[in-house]
Amino acid sequence: MTSESRSYLTTPIYYVNDKPHIGHAYTSLAADVMARWRRMSGQEVFFLTGTDEHGQKVEKAAEARGMQPQAFTDMVSEAFRELAARMNYSNDAFIRTTEERHKRACAALWTRLQERGEIYLGHYEGWYAVRDEAFYGPDEITEKDGQKFAPTGAPVEWVREPSYFFRLSAWQDRLLAFYEAHPDFIAPGTRRNEVISFVRSGLSDLSISRTSFKWGVKVPGDDAHVMYVWLDALTNYITALGYPDETGELWKFWPADVHFVGKDILRFHAIYWPAFLMAADLPPPRRIFAHGWWTNEGQKISKSVGNVIDPLALIDEFGLDPVRFFLLREVPFGNDGDFSRRALIGRLNSELANDLGNLAQRSLALIQKNCEGRLPAAGPELPADGEVLDAIRALPGQVDEALGRQAFHEALERIWVVTRLGNSWIDAQKPWSLKKTDPARMLSVLRHLHSLLRCLATVLLPFMPGTMARMLDQLGVPEGRRGLAALASPMPDGTALPPPSPLFQKIQDEAA
Ligand code: ME8
Ligand code: MG
Repeated sequence: MTSESRSYLTTPIYYVNDKPHIGHAYTSLAADVMARWRRMSGQEVFFLTGTDEHGQKVEKAAEARGMQPQAFTDMVSEAFRELAARMNYSNDAFIRTTEERHKRACAALWTRLQERGEIYLGHYEGWYAVRDEAFYGPDEITEKDGQKFAPTGAPVEWVREPSYFFRLSAWQDRLLAFYEAHPDFIAPGTRRNEVISFVRSGLSDLSISRTSFKWGVKVPGDDAHVMYVWLDALTNYITALGYPDETGELWKFWPADVHFVGKDILRFHAIYWPAFLMAADLPPPRRIFAHGWWTNEGQKISKSVGNVIDPLALIDEFGLDPVRFFLLREVPFGNDGDFSRRALIGRLNSELANDLGNLAQRSLALIQKNCEGRLPAAGPELPADGEVLDAIRALPGQVDEALGRQAFHEALERIWVVTRLGNSWIDAQKPWSLKKTDPARMLSVLRHLHSLLRCLATVLLPFMPGTMARMLDQLGVPEGRRGLAALASPMPDGTALPPPSPLFQKIQDEAA
C-alpha cells in the first residue's frame, strides 16, 4: 500500500477542565467526515481523538471541585468519550495523556531531544496564562484595571522558576524554509501568512518544564520538573501510533495527513510541533488546518456569559444528523461562524426536509406504487436525461476535490446543486402524468431518479451516516455496495425496494 492510500487524521485532545461544548464537537465532526470519506474511497484510515489531562489549568479545575486530579480527569474524560459516541464519530482510538504509554512516549521524545542537544537547563521569568497554558512575550501583554492580559483575553501571571528550554530560536530559519517548501502545510492561506510573519518576527527559546506544580509528566532524570503541558499534549499524536517503537504496526500512519485544530491553537501546532519533530529527526505532519470560531447568536461563547451550547441538548432537540449537517453547511470551514437556532431550523426544513427528503419520498413512493416496489430498468437515453446523468457521474469527483481541501461547505454546496437539479428535473419530467401517456418513459425517469438519489445518499454518508444509511436501505443498496467505487456499477434491475418513510422531520420555527 502506498502512503497516498493511507491517512492519519486527528482532532485536538481537549482539556478536561470542563465538559464538552459545540466547539469541541465541531472540530471532531470535521475530522470524522474526512475519515469516513477517505475510508469510503478505499483508503486505510486511522482517526484519533482524546483528552489533554495534565497542566495547571486541569489541576486547578480539579482543586475547585475538591477532587484528586486523576479522579477528576477520569470523570471529565468520560464525558468526551460519551460525546464521541453520541456524535457518531468513527474514531479508531481515544487517547488520554494520563496513560502510561503516553508518559513513556513523552519521556522518549524528551530524551531524544536532549541527546541531540536541543534542550538546556535555565531559568524562566515572564508572563504565563494558565487559561491558554501559554507563555507570552512582554510586547504581547496589555493591562486593564491593574490586571495584565494576553492577546487572547486570558489573564496572565508573572512566573519565575527554574526551567528547561527547547532551542526554538535555532529553528526559525529552518521553519521558514519548511513553510516555503510545503505551501499546503498551514491552511487556510490567511492563517499561513499569520504564522509566517510571527516566525519572521523572531522566536525565543521555549520554556518546556515547570516546577511550581506537580500535575504533569515528570522530566526524565529530574523529578523537580514536570513537562510543559503543550510538549506533553502534542506528543499524543505519535504516542497513539506506538512511539517510540517505530517498528510497530501503526507507525506506518506517521506523518499525519491533517491535524484539525481551531485557530486558537495554531501557533502550537504550526510552530512548536514541527520544530520538536524536526529536532527529533521525525517528519512533520503534512497539514495543519485551523478552522474558525463559533459564536452563539452573535455572542462570544463563554461560561461566564452562560451561553455555552451543549451539543447533546441540540441532538436531543433536532436529531443528530441535522446538527452534523448544519455545522458543516452553515459556515465555510476556516471562517468564524455564528450559531443561530433560526438558521439551523431554516436549513433543516428547506434543505433536508424539502430538497432532499421530499425528492426521495416522491420518487420512492412512485416506484412503490407504479413498479410494485421493484427497481425499473432505464429505457433509451433522451437528451433531457443528459444533465442528470452527467451530474451523477461528476459529483463524487467534485466532492472528493473539495474535501481534499477540507472545504466541507463547498462539498455540500456541490451536493445541493445536484439535489436541486433532481427537484427541477422531476418537476419537468412529471413521471406521475407519464403513467397514462408514456408508461415506458415513466419507468426510465424513475430509474434515473433512483440513480440520482443513490449517488446523493452515498456521497452524503460521511456527513449524515445514520440517516443516509436509512436512505440507502430504502434505495435497496446493500451494505457492501456503499463505497464510492460501487457507484460506478448500476444496481440490478428489479431490485426490491422497501416502502419509503420520511427521512427528516420538519421543525416548527417558533420565531418565524
Ligand atoms: O486547546 N469555536 O484544548 P481545548 C470553534 N488541550 N472551535 C472551538 C470553540 C469555538 N467557540 N471552542 C473550542 C486545547 N473549540 C488543548 C489542545 S492538542 C495537542 C491540545 C475547539 O479544550 C477548537 O478545536 O481548549 C479548539 O482548538 C479546541 O476546541 C480547544 O480545545
Ligand atoms: Mg482552550
